[in-house]
Amino acid sequence: MHLTRDEEDILAGESGAVKQKAMEILVALGDIYNAERLIPIESAQIAGVSYKTIGEAGLEYLTDLSGKVVVPTMLNPMGMDRYKWRQMGIDETFVERQLAIIRRYELLGIDAQCTCTPYYVNAPRAGAHLSWAESSAVSYANSVLGARTNREGGPSALAAALVGKTPDYGYHRDENRVPDISVRIDFPLAGSDFGALGYVVGKMVKSQVPQFSFVAPPNADELKALGAAMAASGSVALFFTSERAMPREILEVDRSDVDIYSSSEPDVVVLGCPHCSRSELAGIARLLEGRTVARPLWICTSRFVADRSSSVISRIEASGASVICDTCMIVSPAFEKRRMMVNSGKALEYGPSLCNSHTFIGTTANCITAACTA
Ligand code: F3S
Repeated sequence: MHLTRDEEDILAGESGAVKQKAMEILVALGDIYNAERLIPIESAQIAGVSYKTIGEAGLEYLTDLSGKVVVPTMLNPMGMDRYKWRQMGIDETFVERQLAIIRRYELLGIDAQCTCTPYYVNAPRAGAHLSWAESSAVSYANSVLGARTNREGGPSALAAALVGKTPDYGYHRDENRVPDISVRIDFPLAGSDFGALGYVVGKMVKSQVPQFSFVAPPNADELKALGAAMAASGSVALFFTSERAMPREILEVDRSDVDIYSSSEPDVVVLGCPHCSRSELAGIARLLEGRTVARPLWICTSRFVADRSSSVISRIEASGASVICDTCMIVSPAFEKRRMMVNSGKALEYGPSLCNSHTFIGTTANCITAACTA
Protein backbone atom coordinates (compact mmCIF):
# COMPACT_ATOMS: atom_id res chain seq x y z
CA MET A 1 0.00 0.00 0.00
CA HIS A 2 1.30 3.44 -0.84
CA LEU A 3 1.72 5.69 2.20
CA THR A 4 2.23 9.45 2.18
CA ARG A 5 5.21 10.97 3.96
CA ASP A 6 3.04 11.83 7.02
CA GLU A 7 1.65 8.31 7.15
CA GLU A 8 5.17 6.86 6.93
CA ASP A 9 6.16 9.07 9.86
CA ILE A 10 3.27 7.80 11.99
CA LEU A 11 4.23 4.24 11.08
CA ALA A 12 7.80 4.98 12.14
CA GLY A 13 6.54 6.00 15.58
CA GLU A 14 7.04 9.76 15.28
CA SER A 15 3.56 10.43 16.68
CA GLY A 16 3.96 8.00 19.57
CA ALA A 17 3.55 4.30 20.15
CA VAL A 18 -0.26 4.25 20.22
CA LYS A 19 -0.67 5.92 16.83
CA GLN A 20 2.14 3.75 15.49
CA LYS A 21 0.21 0.64 16.56
CA ALA A 22 -2.96 2.09 15.05
CA MET A 23 -1.17 2.69 11.76
CA GLU A 24 0.23 -0.84 11.82
CA ILE A 25 -3.33 -2.20 12.13
CA LEU A 26 -4.55 -0.08 9.20
CA VAL A 27 -1.58 -1.01 7.00
CA ALA A 28 -2.02 -4.71 7.80
CA LEU A 29 -5.71 -4.49 6.88
CA GLY A 30 -4.90 -2.59 3.71
CA ASP A 31 -2.35 -5.22 2.70
CA ILE A 32 -4.77 -8.08 3.33
CA TYR A 33 -7.46 -6.46 1.16
CA ASN A 34 -5.10 -5.06 -1.50
CA ALA A 35 -5.91 -1.43 -0.77
CA GLU A 36 -3.66 1.00 -2.61
CA ARG A 37 -3.93 3.85 -0.13
CA LEU A 38 -5.50 5.22 3.00
CA ILE A 39 -8.46 7.59 2.67
CA PRO A 40 -9.66 10.21 5.18
CA ILE A 41 -12.77 9.36 7.20
CA GLU A 42 -15.37 11.77 8.58
CA SER A 43 -16.37 9.76 11.66
CA ALA A 44 -15.81 6.52 13.53
CA GLN A 45 -18.03 4.31 15.67
CA ILE A 46 -16.55 1.76 18.01
CA ALA A 47 -17.94 -1.60 19.16
CA GLY A 48 -16.57 -3.55 22.11
CA VAL A 49 -17.97 -1.37 24.89
CA SER A 50 -19.99 -3.61 27.19
CA TYR A 51 -18.08 -5.14 30.08
CA LYS A 52 -20.18 -8.24 29.41
CA THR A 53 -18.52 -8.66 26.00
CA ILE A 54 -14.97 -7.32 26.45
CA GLY A 55 -14.40 -8.17 30.14
CA GLU A 56 -11.14 -7.54 32.00
CA ALA A 57 -8.98 -8.18 28.92
CA GLY A 58 -10.75 -5.38 27.04
CA LEU A 59 -10.47 -2.99 29.96
CA GLU A 60 -6.74 -3.72 30.27
CA TYR A 61 -6.25 -3.14 26.54
CA LEU A 62 -7.97 0.25 26.80
CA THR A 63 -5.98 1.19 29.88
CA ASP A 64 -2.78 0.91 27.85
CA LEU A 65 -3.97 3.40 25.23
CA SER A 66 -3.32 7.13 25.18
CA GLY A 67 -3.70 10.02 22.76
CA LYS A 68 -6.83 11.42 21.16
CA VAL A 69 -9.09 10.47 18.29
CA VAL A 70 -8.93 12.93 15.40
CA VAL A 71 -12.46 12.52 13.98
CA PRO A 72 -15.88 12.57 15.73
CA THR A 73 -16.20 9.13 17.32
CA MET A 74 -19.05 7.44 19.18
CA LEU A 75 -19.51 4.16 21.02
CA ASN A 76 -21.81 1.19 20.64
CA PRO A 77 -24.15 0.35 23.55
CA MET A 78 -22.66 -0.64 26.90
CA GLY A 79 -23.97 -3.15 29.43
CA MET A 80 -26.35 -0.90 31.38
CA ASP A 81 -28.26 2.36 31.49
CA ARG A 82 -25.92 4.93 33.02
CA TYR A 83 -28.58 5.94 35.58
CA LYS A 84 -31.14 3.11 35.73
CA TRP A 85 -28.70 0.27 36.36
CA ARG A 86 -30.23 -0.55 39.75
CA GLN A 87 -33.66 -0.88 38.16
CA MET A 88 -32.07 -3.23 35.61
CA GLY A 89 -30.65 -5.40 38.41
CA ILE A 90 -27.01 -4.80 37.45
CA ASP A 91 -24.56 -5.52 40.28
CA GLU A 92 -22.15 -2.88 41.59
CA THR A 93 -18.97 -4.65 40.47
CA PHE A 94 -20.25 -4.69 36.90
CA VAL A 95 -21.18 -1.01 37.16
CA GLU A 96 -17.73 -0.07 38.43
CA ARG A 97 -15.96 -2.01 35.63
CA GLN A 98 -18.36 -0.70 32.98
CA LEU A 99 -17.84 2.91 34.02
CA ALA A 100 -14.06 2.36 33.98
CA ILE A 101 -14.35 1.27 30.33
CA ILE A 102 -16.38 4.36 29.47
CA ARG A 103 -13.85 6.60 31.24
CA ARG A 104 -11.02 5.06 29.19
CA TYR A 105 -12.86 5.80 25.96
CA GLU A 106 -13.65 9.34 27.10
CA LEU A 107 -9.96 9.97 27.85
CA LEU A 108 -9.29 9.15 24.19
CA GLY A 109 -11.62 12.01 23.23
CA ILE A 110 -14.54 9.74 22.30
CA ASP A 111 -18.13 10.93 22.73
CA ALA A 112 -19.61 8.35 25.10
CA GLN A 113 -23.03 8.36 23.44
CA CYS A 114 -23.47 4.62 23.58
CA THR A 115 -25.77 3.85 20.71
CA CYS A 116 -26.10 1.66 17.64
CA THR A 117 -27.91 4.55 15.91
CA PRO A 118 -25.15 7.19 15.78
CA TYR A 119 -26.79 8.56 12.62
CA TYR A 120 -29.60 10.08 14.72
CA VAL A 121 -26.98 12.06 16.64
CA ASN A 122 -24.86 13.07 13.68
CA ALA A 123 -25.96 11.82 10.27
CA PRO A 124 -23.12 11.37 7.79
CA ARG A 125 -23.54 12.98 4.39
CA ALA A 126 -23.97 10.84 1.27
CA GLY A 127 -20.56 9.85 -0.05
CA ALA A 128 -18.76 10.37 3.28
CA HIS A 129 -16.17 7.72 4.17
CA LEU A 130 -16.61 6.33 7.69
CA SER A 131 -15.12 3.68 9.89
CA TRP A 132 -18.06 2.22 11.78
CA ALA A 133 -18.19 -1.06 13.63
CA GLU A 134 -21.82 -1.67 14.57
CA SER A 135 -23.24 -3.88 11.83
CA SER A 136 -26.74 -2.37 11.79
CA ALA A 137 -25.32 1.16 11.67
CA VAL A 138 -22.97 0.11 8.85
CA SER A 139 -25.94 -1.21 6.90
CA TYR A 140 -27.96 1.98 7.50
CA ALA A 141 -25.05 4.27 6.62
CA ASN A 142 -24.29 2.41 3.38
CA SER A 143 -27.82 1.60 2.24
CA VAL A 144 -30.07 4.40 3.49
CA LEU A 145 -27.71 7.37 3.85
CA GLY A 146 -25.37 6.63 0.94
CA ALA A 147 -22.25 6.97 3.08
CA ARG A 148 -19.43 4.43 2.77
CA THR A 149 -18.07 2.13 5.41
CA ASN A 150 -16.87 -1.41 5.80
CA ARG A 151 -17.98 -3.39 8.82
CA GLU A 152 -15.05 -2.68 11.09
CA GLY A 153 -13.95 -4.60 14.14
CA GLY A 154 -13.56 -2.65 17.40
CA PRO A 155 -9.73 -2.36 17.11
CA SER A 156 -9.75 -1.32 13.43
CA ALA A 157 -12.44 1.34 14.02
CA LEU A 158 -10.43 2.67 16.97
CA ALA A 159 -7.23 2.66 14.90
CA ALA A 160 -9.03 4.59 12.15
CA ALA A 161 -10.38 7.08 14.70
CA LEU A 162 -6.86 7.71 16.07
CA VAL A 163 -5.33 8.17 12.61
CA GLY A 164 -8.36 9.69 10.84
CA LYS A 165 -8.01 7.32 7.89
CA THR A 166 -8.98 3.87 6.71
CA PRO A 167 -7.72 1.61 3.90
CA ASP A 168 -9.51 2.16 0.58
CA TYR A 169 -11.17 -1.19 -0.10
CA GLY A 170 -14.55 -2.94 0.09
CA TYR A 171 -17.59 -0.68 0.33
CA HIS A 172 -15.49 2.47 0.06
CA ARG A 173 -15.09 1.69 -3.63
CA ASP A 174 -17.68 2.09 -6.41
CA GLU A 175 -16.99 -1.29 -7.98
CA ASN A 176 -18.15 -3.09 -4.82
CA ARG A 177 -21.31 -1.04 -4.37
CA VAL A 178 -23.37 -2.98 -6.88
CA PRO A 179 -26.14 -5.51 -6.24
CA ASP A 180 -25.45 -9.24 -6.60
CA ILE A 181 -28.94 -10.67 -6.23
CA SER A 182 -32.54 -9.51 -6.76
CA VAL A 183 -35.04 -10.13 -4.01
CA ARG A 184 -38.66 -9.82 -5.11
CA ILE A 185 -41.27 -9.18 -2.49
CA ASP A 186 -44.71 -9.11 -4.09
CA PHE A 187 -46.82 -8.98 -0.93
CA PRO A 188 -47.34 -6.05 1.43
CA LEU A 189 -45.17 -5.67 4.54
CA ALA A 190 -45.31 -3.21 7.42
CA GLY A 191 -43.32 -2.35 10.54
CA SER A 192 -41.75 -5.36 12.26
CA ASP A 193 -42.35 -7.49 9.14
CA PHE A 194 -39.16 -5.91 7.79
CA GLY A 195 -37.13 -7.30 10.70
CA ALA A 196 -38.61 -10.74 10.07
CA LEU A 197 -37.87 -10.42 6.35
CA GLY A 198 -34.28 -9.38 7.04
CA TYR A 199 -33.81 -12.34 9.38
CA VAL A 200 -34.95 -14.74 6.63
CA VAL A 201 -33.18 -13.07 3.69
CA GLY A 202 -29.87 -12.61 5.57
CA LYS A 203 -29.64 -16.37 6.05
CA MET A 204 -30.24 -16.87 2.32
CA VAL A 205 -27.96 -14.23 0.80
CA LYS A 206 -25.18 -14.32 3.44
CA SER A 207 -22.69 -11.59 2.43
CA GLN A 208 -24.13 -10.80 -1.01
CA VAL A 209 -25.54 -7.36 -1.82
CA PRO A 210 -29.31 -7.72 -2.30
CA GLN A 211 -31.50 -5.43 -4.32
CA PHE A 212 -35.12 -5.48 -3.19
CA SER A 213 -38.26 -4.73 -5.09
CA PHE A 214 -41.21 -4.04 -2.81
CA VAL A 215 -44.92 -3.47 -3.38
CA ALA A 216 -44.56 -0.10 -1.59
CA PRO A 217 -41.43 1.76 -0.48
CA PRO A 218 -40.44 1.09 3.17
CA ASN A 219 -39.89 4.01 5.53
CA ALA A 220 -36.56 4.72 7.25
CA ASP A 221 -37.45 2.75 10.42
CA GLU A 222 -38.42 -0.25 8.32
CA LEU A 223 -35.17 -0.06 6.33
CA LYS A 224 -33.27 0.11 9.62
CA ALA A 225 -34.99 -3.07 10.85
CA LEU A 226 -34.40 -4.86 7.55
CA GLY A 227 -30.71 -4.00 7.39
CA ALA A 228 -30.04 -4.79 11.06
CA ALA A 229 -31.57 -8.25 10.72
CA MET A 230 -29.71 -9.08 7.49
CA ALA A 231 -26.43 -7.94 9.03
CA ALA A 232 -26.98 -10.34 11.95
CA SER A 233 -28.45 -13.43 10.32
CA GLY A 234 -26.17 -13.05 7.26
CA SER A 235 -23.43 -10.49 6.99
CA VAL A 236 -25.08 -8.03 4.64
CA ALA A 237 -23.49 -4.58 4.90
CA LEU A 238 -25.15 -2.95 1.89
CA PHE A 239 -28.51 -3.37 0.18
CA PHE A 240 -30.49 -1.46 -2.39
CA THR A 241 -34.14 -0.63 -2.77
CA SER A 242 -33.93 1.89 -5.59
CA GLU A 243 -34.89 0.96 -9.12
CA ARG A 244 -31.83 0.06 -11.14
CA ALA A 245 -30.91 -2.85 -13.40
CA MET A 246 -31.90 -5.91 -11.39
CA PRO A 247 -29.27 -8.65 -11.08
CA ARG A 248 -30.09 -11.82 -12.94
CA GLU A 249 -29.98 -14.06 -9.92
CA ILE A 250 -33.41 -13.83 -8.35
CA LEU A 251 -34.54 -14.82 -4.90
CA GLU A 252 -38.28 -15.27 -4.50
CA VAL A 253 -39.57 -14.87 -0.97
CA ASP A 254 -43.13 -15.91 -0.08
CA ARG A 255 -45.38 -14.49 2.59
CA SER A 256 -45.15 -17.81 4.45
CA ASP A 257 -41.30 -17.57 4.60
CA VAL A 258 -41.58 -14.33 6.56
CA ASP A 259 -44.23 -15.57 8.95
CA ILE A 260 -41.85 -16.44 11.79
CA TYR A 261 -43.93 -14.83 14.52
CA SER A 262 -44.53 -16.76 17.72
CA SER A 263 -47.32 -16.63 20.28
CA SER A 264 -45.22 -18.08 23.14
CA GLU A 265 -45.47 -16.45 26.57
CA PRO A 266 -42.46 -14.29 27.48
CA ASP A 267 -40.85 -13.52 30.85
CA VAL A 268 -39.81 -10.18 29.45
CA VAL A 269 -40.54 -8.10 26.35
CA VAL A 270 -37.75 -5.90 24.94
CA LEU A 271 -38.11 -3.47 22.04
CA GLY A 272 -35.59 -1.14 20.45
CA CYS A 273 -33.09 -3.18 18.46
CA PRO A 274 -31.65 -1.14 16.83
CA HIS A 275 -32.25 1.72 19.27
CA CYS A 276 -35.66 3.33 18.76
CA SER A 277 -36.09 6.45 16.71
CA ARG A 278 -38.41 9.21 17.90
CA SER A 279 -41.14 7.95 15.57
CA GLU A 280 -40.79 4.40 16.90
CA LEU A 281 -41.09 5.67 20.49
CA ALA A 282 -44.21 7.62 19.49
CA GLY A 283 -45.69 4.47 17.92
CA ILE A 284 -45.04 2.47 21.09
CA ALA A 285 -46.63 5.25 23.21
CA ARG A 286 -49.76 5.09 21.03
CA LEU A 287 -49.98 1.30 21.40
CA LEU A 288 -49.62 1.59 25.20
CA GLU A 289 -52.23 4.34 25.61
CA GLY A 290 -54.58 3.45 28.48
CA ARG A 291 -52.89 0.09 29.14
CA THR A 292 -50.83 -1.27 32.04
CA VAL A 293 -48.02 -3.76 31.66
CA ALA A 294 -48.43 -7.10 33.40
CA ARG A 295 -44.87 -8.28 32.76
CA PRO A 296 -41.62 -6.35 32.27
CA LEU A 297 -41.49 -4.26 29.10
CA TRP A 298 -38.19 -2.53 28.32
CA ILE A 299 -37.62 -0.17 25.43
CA CYS A 300 -34.07 0.67 24.32
CA THR A 301 -33.09 3.95 22.75
CA SER A 302 -30.18 6.36 22.68
CA ARG A 303 -29.80 9.07 25.30
CA PHE A 304 -29.78 11.60 22.44
CA VAL A 305 -33.23 10.49 21.26
CA ALA A 306 -34.55 10.07 24.83
CA ASP A 307 -33.52 13.62 25.74
CA ARG A 308 -35.66 14.87 22.88
CA SER A 309 -38.66 12.62 23.59
CA SER A 310 -39.47 13.30 27.24
CA SER A 311 -43.24 13.67 26.85
CA VAL A 312 -43.49 10.50 24.74
CA ILE A 313 -41.37 8.62 27.29
CA SER A 314 -43.64 9.82 30.12
CA ARG A 315 -46.62 8.41 28.21
CA ILE A 316 -44.79 5.09 27.72
CA GLU A 317 -43.69 4.85 31.34
CA ALA A 318 -47.21 5.66 32.62
CA SER A 319 -48.02 2.08 31.58
CA GLY A 320 -45.30 0.66 33.84
CA ALA A 321 -42.89 0.04 30.92
CA SER A 322 -39.29 1.34 31.21
CA VAL A 323 -37.31 3.20 28.59
CA ILE A 324 -33.58 2.61 28.96
CA CYS A 325 -30.64 4.30 27.24
CA ASP A 326 -26.96 3.48 26.55
CA THR A 327 -27.58 -0.29 26.42
CA CYS A 328 -29.63 -3.06 24.84
CA MET A 329 -31.10 -6.51 25.41
CA ILE A 330 -28.10 -8.23 23.83
CA VAL A 331 -25.09 -6.49 25.39
CA SER A 332 -26.54 -6.12 28.90
CA PRO A 333 -26.39 -8.99 31.39
CA ALA A 334 -29.90 -8.00 32.56
CA PHE A 335 -31.67 -10.09 29.93
CA GLU A 336 -29.73 -13.33 30.14
CA LYS A 337 -31.47 -16.68 30.48
CA ARG A 338 -34.97 -15.26 30.05
CA ARG A 339 -37.85 -16.06 27.73
CA MET A 340 -37.49 -12.87 25.73
CA MET A 341 -39.98 -11.54 23.19
CA VAL A 342 -38.64 -9.00 20.69
CA ASN A 343 -39.84 -7.26 17.54
CA SER A 344 -36.40 -7.37 15.90
CA GLY A 345 -34.82 -9.86 13.53
CA LYS A 346 -31.38 -8.93 14.85
CA ALA A 347 -32.30 -9.58 18.49
CA LEU A 348 -33.97 -12.81 17.39
CA GLU A 349 -30.65 -13.93 15.86
CA TYR A 350 -28.41 -12.92 18.77
CA GLY A 351 -30.66 -13.60 21.79
CA PRO A 352 -30.02 -17.36 21.94
CA SER A 353 -26.25 -17.20 21.42
CA LEU A 354 -25.29 -13.98 23.21
CA CYS A 355 -27.91 -13.91 26.00
CA ASN A 356 -28.53 -17.61 26.36
CA SER A 357 -32.18 -16.64 26.23
CA HIS A 358 -35.11 -18.35 24.58
CA THR A 359 -35.89 -15.57 22.11
CA PHE A 360 -38.92 -15.22 19.88
CA ILE A 361 -40.32 -12.51 17.67
CA GLY A 362 -43.67 -10.77 17.40
CA THR A 363 -44.91 -7.62 15.71
CA THR A 364 -44.57 -4.49 17.84
CA ALA A 365 -48.33 -4.58 18.49
CA ASN A 366 -48.19 -8.24 19.56
CA CYS A 367 -45.20 -7.54 21.82
CA ILE A 368 -47.13 -4.78 23.56
CA THR A 369 -50.18 -6.99 23.92
CA ALA A 370 -48.04 -9.79 25.38
CA ALA A 371 -46.50 -7.35 27.86
CA CYS A 372 -49.95 -6.12 28.92
CA THR A 373 -51.47 -9.60 29.31
CA ALA A 374 -51.13 -11.42 32.63
FE1 F3S B 1 -28.30 -2.16 18.75
FE2 F3S B 1 -28.06 -4.02 20.56
FE3 F3S B 1 -29.59 -4.41 18.50
S1 F3S B 1 -26.43 -2.82 19.72
S2 F3S B 1 -28.66 -3.25 16.86
S3 F3S B 1 -29.92 -2.86 20.08
S4 F3S B 1 -28.21 -5.90 19.40
